[in-house]
Amino acid sequence: MSSFAAHNIRFADGSLSIPEHPFLLADVPHCEGAKRVLSMLYGGNHEGKRIVDLGCLEGGYALEFARMGLDSFGIEVRTSSYENCLEVKRRAEISNLNFAQDDVWNLAKYGPYDVMFCCGLLYDLDRPLGFIRLMGEQARDAVIINTHYAPEGWRPKSVFKLSKMTDTRVCQAAGMTSLGSVTSKNGRSTNGRPGVTSAVSG
Ligand SMILES: C[S@@+](CC[C@H](N)C(=O)[O-])C[C@H]1O[C@@H](n2cnc3c(N)ncnc32)[C@H](O)[C@@H]1O
Repeated sequence: MSSFAAHNIRFADGSLSIPEHPFLLADVPHCEGAKRVLSMLYGGNHEGKRIVDLGCLEGGYALEFARMGLDSFGIEVRTSSYENCLEVKRRAEISNLNFAQDDVWNLAKYGPYDVMFCCGLLYDLDRPLGFIRLMGEQARDAVIINTHYAPEGWRPKSVFKLSKMTDTRVCQAAGMTSLGSVTSKNGRSTNGRPGVTSAVSG
C-alpha cells in the first residue's frame, strides 16, 4: 500500500489517512452534495440500496456512502489506489463496503445498482457520452455526476503548449509521429492528422 495522497479519511480508531490535510473528504462540497441527493432520494432510509463509486481512487466517497447505510461498492483500476481502498475497508471496520480492481467499463459485471456515483472520471475516459449511457442503463434510481465540461461554443482563454520534449514522448507512447501540428481548440486537430492536444485552461 502507498501512502494516501487524495482522500483524508477518519478511520474507526479516530486516526486520519492524511493527518496534515486541512479538512476531511467527508466535508468537501462534492461529498456533502452527493449525500444530500441520496437523503432526498430515499428519505434517510438507505437500507438495501446499492451504490457504486466509479474510479473511486482511495475509496473515501465509497466509505461515506457505506457510513450512511448504503451497500457501497467502489471500482478502481490503478493497483496502488485499489490497495489503499482495501486499507480503508480494513481500518474503517465496516462490512457494507467493498471494492474491485477493474476497468469501469466492466461495471455491469458487479451489478445491479440503485445509484451510480461518477466523480472526476468522465474526462479520463475515451467515450464519455457512451459511458453516461451505460450508467443510465445500469442505474435503477439515479446517476450522480461531478465533472469538468466545456459548454457549447466555449473557447479557452489561454492555451498552454506542451514542451517539445513532452510532445515527443507523448507521441511516441501513443505510436504517433506528428508534432506541433495540433490546435487545442475543443480538443480537435485542425490538420486532420492524428496528434496530441495541448492542455487548455478556461
Ligand atoms: C481524477 S480521479 C477521481 C477520483 C475520485 N472519484 C475523486 O473524485 O476523488 C480518477 C480516478 O479514476 C480512475 N480511473 C480512470 N480510468 C478508469 C477506468 N477506466 N476504470 C477504473 N478506474 C479508472 C483513476 O485511477 C483515478 O483514481
